[in-house]
Amino acid sequence: MFLAHLLHQQGHDAIVLEQRDRDYVEGRVRAGVLEQGTVDLMHRLGIGQNVAARGLVHEGVNIAVNGDPFRIDLAELTNVSAVTVYGQQAVMQDLFDAAVAQALDIVFEAQNVQLQSLDKDMVEVSWQDTHGANAVSCQFVVGCDGSYGICSSYLPKPKQFEQTYPFGWLGILAEVPPAHEELIYGWHPRGFTLASMRSATRSRYYIQCPADTLLADWSEAQIWDEICTRLGPDLSRGVTRGQAFETSIAPLRSRVTEPMSANRLFLAGDAAHIVPPTGAKGLNLAVTDVMLLADAFDAYFTHDSETALTAYSQRALARTWQAQRFSWWFTHLTHCFADASAYTHRLQQAELNSLRTSRAQQQVFAQNYVGLPL
Ligand code: DHB
Repeated sequence: MFLAHLLHQQGHDAIVLEQRDRDYVEGRVRAGVLEQGTVDLMHRLGIGQNVAARGLVHEGVNIAVNGDPFRIDLAELTNVSAVTVYGQQAVMQDLFDAAVAQALDIVFEAQNVQLQSLDKDMVEVSWQDTHGANAVSCQFVVGCDGSYGICSSYLPKPKQFEQTYPFGWLGILAEVPPAHEELIYGWHPRGFTLASMRSATRSRYYIQCPADTLLADWSEAQIWDEICTRLGPDLSRGVTRGQAFETSIAPLRSRVTEPMSANRLFLAGDAAHIVPPTGAKGLNLAVTDVMLLADAFDAYFTHDSETALTAYSQRALARTWQAQRFSWWFTHLTHCFADASAYTHRLQQAELNSLRTSRAQQQVFAQNYVGLPL
């Protein structure tokens, strides 16, 4: 949707094929931390009013070890200064509202999408929707269809790099004030916890759980108890319990598909790469992919230059691997691995201590957390 808006702003025609309906996309609870580059893009697209009014600007982030927190001052350590807490659901609503207002071409409930003649001048795209069978010819296809989408399967010789983690995140969303004014990422011998939020009255928490956990295994009271245990006695005093209106379990995975383009097909976002959620890089990385792509398409359509399109895969992958590195590192820093040796455990504690005490370490963290420059 970001790419559709960017292309529309540049005056290039695009059609969006969305497998689900609008309610589903807007209703799906996803991460909630926007890098400044993402917020700036929303303003550039004229959809920044809500994020400006309701987004929570955070100039710091907290890491707690066994309930003992330290703060990383994003404002002092970076030029970018802050991140904005604003749910992906709200971002989708803003994108769709503006898409309707500007009459962008979006097909919802597009099923059985198929691509043909990717190596020719025009790609044939066919699908079925509520009106029946449909097709379009276009110069380029961008696969923004997520990790289970079809587009990546059209790469002739993809290389996949991946890692799965033996745990997931159990998430709970409730209409209660957050535990703290900023986010708290917590290490605890029972597992990772994240105390996050969507607004001053809406909290989002996550706890690390074994990969085979079923939601039915946990009552809400047990989830709240576990959050409080892991945050420790001091921080848990800030926790207000309340009835959850969403609980979910998300697996943790890392994956990169190379290259991110072939012929007239370009991949963006989760279709090409998955990061574990620790650090909330997924949405932001997808946004920078399409910013690169939009510039590359503009160079092609207005100056007849293919240079940026040809360079897209390499440039996007370089950024992806930086985000992979950070998300992998932050996950290893803050989660408990059941098979960790006593030695590895001590190393993890040393790393946490180093982050607590070293300004240099905190600066590297902060630069990655707020988002590396494009
Ligand atoms: C949230 C998710 C994250 O992965 C993260 O690092 C921070 C916040 C969230 O959903 O609020």
